[in-house]
This record gives sequence, structure tokens and C-alpha cells, in this order.
Amino acid sequence: MKLAKSMAMGMLSLAALAYSCGGGGSSDSSSESSSSDSAPAPAASSQSLEDKYKDDPVFVAGSAKAKEAGCTACHMVERKIVGPSYADVAAKYENTDENVAMLTSRVIKGNVGEWGEVPMPAHPHLENDDVETIVKYVLLLKK
Ligand code: HEC
Repeated sequence: MKLAKSMAMGMLSLAALAYSCGGGGSSDSSSESSSSDSAPAPAASSQSLEDKYKDDPVFVAGSAKAKEAGCTACHMVERKIVGPSYADVAAKYENTDENVAMLTSRVIKGNVGEWGEVPMPAHPHLENDDVETIVKYVLLLKK
């Protein structure tokens, strides 16, 4: 009886130890669960933007043109690479005709200083209409 009791106590303190270790983040299961905890954040947001708009004709037309025009070398939907993410651009500007025209001309002429020191090169070879199609798609990407 006494033995069983002290074994039970031993199990309890072992469990407490294991628990506190897990709490420190050193156990596999805890790092697994924390990575699956943090995974939904980017997954959910990339899902929310690309999945949210993937059937929108503005999205379909604009994302195809953006690839064609090479914008994807410097811009991603939700991650800043060389240039700001499209989601950040969409968050900064209201989706108005004026902003579409303003951003279209910035893309064609190039721009610097709005997002930092890195300039966006000019794209004089692109058609105004094509760039507009892309800019409308960019401004669509609001969360
Ligand atoms: C060589 C890299 C590069 C390429 C290619 C590029 N961009 Fe950019 N883009 C940038 C950088 C860097 C900025 C930030 C410029 C600034 O701070 O003013 C930017 C900014 C922008 C902005 C925001 C402008 C503003 O005034 O806030 C838009 C919209 C944009 N790019 C769209 C495009 C489109 C559309 C294309 C394809 C035709 C494209 N970019 C191709 C690097 C690039």
C-alpha cells in the first residue's frame, strides 16, 4: 500500500517534470504543436488572399499579367521580397481610379522612396492597359 502510494507520487513528480520540460519547449511534441500553431497564420492569410480572390476575374487577369511582365521577380502577394508585398500596397492605397492611374504611372516610370531606398525600375516597354490590369489586381488584395 505504502509502496503503491510512493510510486504514485513518483509518477506524479515525473509527470510534473515532463510537463515543465514540455513547457520549456524542449520536447518534440511541444515544438510540433507550436509549429502547427504558428503554421495557420501564414497559411490562413495566404489562403485568405489567394483563395479569397482566386475566382475574381480581376485576380485571374492581373496575376497572369504580373507573371508575364516579370513583376513576380520582386513582388509576392503576402511577403516582402525586393519590393513590398501586394497585400501591403493594397493596405496602403484605397482602390480608386486615381490611385490606379497614379500607381500605373509609377510602375511604368519607376519609383523610389515610397517604401524605402530600393528603387523600382521603370517598365517603359509595358502597355498602360496591361499595367493597369495588374495594379487593379494588386489593389484588390485587401485582407
Ligand atoms: C526589380 C524589382 C521590381 C520589379 C521587377 C517590379 N517592382 Fe514594383 N516595386 C519594387 C520596389 C523596390 C518598390 C518600392 C519603390 C518605392 O519605395 O517607391 C516597388 C513598388 C511597387 C508598387 C507601389 C508603388 C508605390 O508608389 O507605393 C507597385 C504598385 C508595384 N511596385 C507594382 C509593380 C508591378 C505591377 C510590376 C511589374 C510590371 C513591378 N512592380 C515590378 C520593385 C520591383
